[in-house]
Amino acid sequence: MRQPEYPIHPLILNRRSPRAMSGESLTDEELLPLFEAARWAPSSYNAQPWRFLYAKRETKAWSSLFDLLVPFNQSWANDAAVLVIVASHTIFESSGKPSQTHSFDTGAAWENLALEGSSRGLVVHGMQGFDYKKAKEVCALSDDYAIEMMIAIGKAGKVKDLPEEVQKKETPSSRKALSEIVIDLGRDINYTARGSKLGNFPKSALEV
Ligand SMILES: Cc1cc2nc3c(=O)[nH]c(=O)nc-3n(C[C@H](O)[C@H](O)[C@H](O)COP(=O)(O)O)c2cc1C
Repeated sequence: MRQPEYPIHPLILNRRSPRAMSGESLTDEELLPLFEAARWAPSSYNAQPWRFLYAKRETKAWSSLFDLLVPFNQSWANDAAVLVIVASHTIFESSGKPSQTHSFDTGAAWENLALEGSSRGLVVHGMQGFDYKKAKEVCALSDDYAIEMMIAIGKAGKVKDLPEEVQKKETPSSRKALSEIVIDLGRDINYTARGSKLGNFPKSALEV
């Protein structure tokens, strides 16, 4: 079981990335609310740089996306209902200037999508194990777009139907301790993360 250090919303604690899916299709009514959730993510200047290009398993486009995946991801994602390529616009449409946060903003949109899917009992699983270069070609994206990740979405299936080596990975993951990722600059000046030095806040800050 996952143990939070402080009580948090169960939706956040219970979201995870299962791999067992049933192979059933998803209707637009089941799928599109996930993108709706992504749509309401915050972004720098409200630029909304995220783009989602998807293929349902029953369409011809499916194999173009499935073929991008590394063999391990293919071994379980073949039972997904939808494969998604997540891209982001690297320049601000308003000014034409480069965005520092296009990936960061798109990460927020992905998490919204994942939480919405999880709340509906769907499997939503992010992937970086695919050919990024080919993905850009397949989707014919121009140079001002970056490929961020792929997502497999589907109805939940049975763990026992997964290949054996995938079954072993199906336990809920844990997290680093809060003390390893959060630093109180009013208290710590020599901070480390997992034993490696992260930085030194000026001593003078503690004397205020
Ligand atoms: C951007 C991104 C890329 C990922 N790539 C893969 C992947 O290629 N294959 C895979 O099986 N899981 C992949 N994962 C799933 C992570 O391994 C998983 O999110 C992590 O272990 C934490 O587990 P949880 O999502 O169940 O909390 C990816 C997740 C993210 C967010």
